[in-house]
Amino acid sequence: MTKRVAILISGGGSNMVALVDSMTGDHPARPVLVLSNDPQAAGLDKAAARGIPTAAVDHRPYGKDRAAFEQALQAELDRAQPDILCLAGFMRILTADFIARWDGRMLNIHPSLLPKYKGLNTHARALAAGDTEHGCSVHQVTPALDDGPVLGQAVVPVLPRDTADTLAARVLPMEHALYPAVLRKFATGDRTPVFLRSGLSFPPSNA
Ligand code: GRF
Repeated sequence: MTKRVAILISGGGSNMVALVDSMTGDHPARPVLVLSNDPQAAGLDKAAARGIPTAAVDHRPYGKDRAAFEQALQAELDRAQPDILCLAGFMRILTADFIARWDGRMLNIHPSLLPKYKGLNTHARALAAGDTEHGCSVHQVTPALDDGPVLGQAVVPVLPRDTADTLAARVLPMEHALYPAVLRKFATGDRTPVFLRSGLSFPPSNA
């Protein structure tokens, strides 16, 4: 049975595009909704251009009332009836109640090799730590931030003159490869982790 996938975004939605564009042919899932907390999110236009239903629930009018904001999110989700939620650049913290409702059916992509660097500014933190490798992780969402079971990781090298921006730019394409690969397996019930490594190596192997 084809799984119905809703993707939650807050911005450009490059991971959403990668997920949507991957769900074709014999893929066991199809996108049914792209939902944003920002009505101006550029990803909404990209989704609409791909014929995917979109919705936005602006979180700002709800202030600190997360439960009311999530109730409005859930109303949109109830209309789309997804089986799986994919958080893709979604920048709002979700309450334990909302997460419990989607327990085992909600994924997130985080730009670090979890459990390292939960939270924000992951690329700068990896550089500050002098890491020689960095990357991204797809995990099941649990109430603790960036803490659920890891379903896949992609690794890139950290290069000597990297900045947070150059490192982020090296990680992002790997996110676009990793998330679709994890979702394809997850949609079949396969939980075996996906592991990808960037073709780059340092120092260059042909040195
Ligand atoms: C990405 O770095 C992703 O890891 C993080 O949000 C950033 C933007 O994602 N969660 P997108 O382009 O909006 O998918």
